[in-house]
Amino acid sequence: MISVITGASAGIGAAAASELSRRGHKVVLVGRDAARLKAVAQGLTGPEPDVLTCDFTRLDDVRRLAADLRERYERIGVLANNAGVMSSTRQVTADGHELMIQVNHLAPFLLTHTLADHVDRVVTTSSMAGNSGRLDPGDLSRERRRWNGWLQYGDSKQANALFTVALAARGTHATCFHPGVIRTGFAGDTWLMRLYLAVPGVAKSPEQGAKTLVHLATTEGESGRYYVKEAPAGPGRGMRDPELADRLWEASLSALNG
Ligand SMILES: NC(=O)c1ccc[n+]([C@@H]2O[C@H](COP(=O)([O-])OP(=O)(O)OC[C@H]3O[C@@H](n4cnc5c(N)ncnc54)[C@H](OP(=O)(O)O)[C@@H]3O)[C@@H](O)[C@H]2O)c1
Repeated sequence: MISVITGASAGIGAAAASELSRRGHKVVLVGRDAARLKAVAQGLTGPEPDVLTCDFTRLDDVRRLAADLRERYERIGVLANNAGVMSSTRQVTADGHELMIQVNHLAPFLLTHTLADHVDRVVTTSSMAGNSGRLDPGDLSRERRRWNGWLQYGDSKQANALFTVALAARGTHATCFHPGVIRTGFAGDTWLMRLYLAVPGVAKSPEQGAKTLVHLATTEGESGRYYVKEAPAGPGRGMRDPELADRLWEASLSALNG
């Protein structure tokens, strides 16, 4: 079984890679930094992993990755869209999109859309933060609305869940999940994350954060659903609205072609 994991250089992705490898998956580690990926690869105990670099802030790099994956592997068992970022400052990529909506949603949308007929199962790392999202398909980068880091991050994680709904409706087996509050490099410069990390018992280990990813990568799961602690859960309407999911799908296609 070939399992492609984005954001595999650290945190939840690296922990998931380790467990899937232990269970006999050939993992394909995707990340920005070859040295960090190699260090993760060296710690794996299963079949020889492959390492592919890609920077999600550059959509042409994502297109190259998708073409490379298609050429290398006849079939991909699992595509784990896990790479993600939270930024407290507003940044715009060379493609013209706000950083988080591109790295967290548009890049995995592009990768998955390009590979959909080549992949058996898509698992996306969303977040309960998606419940605070107020995604507007007409304003994905929040150019016309108030921007702050957590608002935009919420939109991007809402987008992960809606993309899962839209993929399932189009016949691709897709699930997403909230990993919990996990002690990784994620959002390390925000007071909210520092608070979570400071309160004993709140933040869990990357291995615990990877559990639901591993569960969804190794069991069938209910397509189109959002999972928490290895079980289907009911997120807010904004994360499961099929009409909004369709509008996001169209807006994402336009954003990539525009
Ligand atoms: N930690 C939490 O409490 C928590 C809670 C809910 C959801 N999540 C989600 O969990 C996922 C994994 O995050 P984590 O907690 O494991 O954080 P992390 O340790 O910071 O890992 C993030 C991963 O994403 C990669 N990444 C970031 N920007 C990228 C870019 N431009 N192009 C390609 N890859 C990029 C990172 O690569 P580099 O090593 O190159 O930076 C890293 O491998 C994210 O989607 C996050 O939104 C985390």
